[in-house]
Amino acid sequence: MGHSLIDHAVDILNKNDLRTYTVPTHGLYPFQWNWDSCLVALGQSYFDEARAWTEIETLFASQWDDGLVPHIIFHKDDPGYFPGPDVWQTGQPIPTSGITQPPVAGFAVRRLYDRAKDKAQAAKQARALLPKIDAWHDWFFRCRDPEGTGLVALIHPWESGRDNSVDWDDAFDRVPTEGVEPFERRDLMHADASHRPTQAQYERYIYLVQLFRDLGWDNTKLHDASPFQIVDPGFNGILIRSCADLADLADALGEPEIAARNRAWAKAGSAAMEALWSDTYGQYLCYDRKAGRPVDNPSVAGLIAAFAPLPQKRADRIGTRIKNMGEDVTYLVPSQPADTATFDGKRYWRGPAWLIVNYMISDGLAHAGQHDVAERIVNDSLSLIEASGFAEYYDPITGEGCGGKAFSWTAAMVIEFLTRSKELV
Ligand code: DGY
Repeated sequence: MGHSLIDHAVDILNKNDLRTYTVPTHGLYPFQWNWDSCLVALGQSYFDEARAWTEIETLFASQWDDGLVPHIIFHKDDPGYFPGPDVWQTGQPIPTSGITQPPVAGFAVRRLYDRAKDKAQAAKQARALLPKIDAWHDWFFRCRDPEGTGLVALIHPWESGRDNSVDWDDAFDRVPTEGVEPFERRDLMHADASHRPTQAQYERYIYLVQLFRDLGWDNTKLHDASPFQIVDPGFNGILIRSCADLADLADALGEPEIAARNRAWAKAGSAAMEALWSDTYGQYLCYDRKAGRPVDNPSVAGLIAAFAPLPQKRADRIGTRIKNMGEDVTYLVPSQPADTATFDGKRYWRGPAWLIVNYMISDGLAHAGQHDVAERIVNDSLSLIEASGFAEYYDPITGEGCGGKAFSWTAAMVIEFLTRSKELV
């Protein structure tokens, strides 16, 4: 069983491979996406280490001078996607979007290095990436935490990866739609409309893009100018984990300054996360920086936080919470709890389970000694693949595969689950 699933996963990664980067899936996402690529590289390292490094190097070749690593790199034109480079207008040599995505690169590069068979080659590649990832982390704290709170804010839902989460509903009420240029969505040509964000959400996504574009994509201005500023515990947990991993890698490669800086960010971030903890829900919550209050919704963001090194009591409580959620769904981990009124099992980030999320949560919980729940998450993930193939995401109750098909990061995570169990203990 394990082998044929791995063969199938490798096949998907090869079919989505455009030589120097991998598309998430043909049609729906025809370019290079930031965190997709870093997670895909983990799967590629199983059968071609050199190719895995190339995936991340291609991404960082489009890093901006100010340190930002964009969420999409438009390597070539494709009329099947909206919004394309003509909407973003970021003026980069290879066109890119102008916002970022969850910073998994520090984590992924450390893992590639740790598992590399060709250590000398891996050290060379990792050493070249180290200052670039460090510069991206520095960009986050300079541009998205201007008051030095220790935690960074998102200024667009697409940065979180969780585009249409219930977490943004209140904040989106404050995002206007006046002046949004008429547009035609292309995602609905490739995916079922009932699995995707709504038109009202798309109008606000585009409003924010136009606002930032009008400010010349100047990151010294965008944070303060954005009507949408959310501190997401999952996003910050990923950043903290990547800072901690980059610090360890920098130590291993003899770069003490990079190590010290990243360790300090990780430490300050972990301490600041305490302010996002909710005893009522037994998990972290988002914080709406613009409104100055927590977001009263227990989404998966507060569970993804377990990917970061956290106080033991927090990791234990998150483990218990997920175990309890397992009674309401067939397959962990739902992106929105099934017992909330807003739960929608097929609509993108308002209910479905995602394998990349399951990977990060199970990794964090296993490190914290929560082996039972980590194992249930891994088993549920593999059951979803057996039931419904390599989809973008899954209905956590019926197991139906939703969104795009033959999905790269789903394939990569299957390889991880089936081959990397040693790293999860
Ligand atoms: C999309 O187009 O749906 C993406 O999630 C934006 O990055």
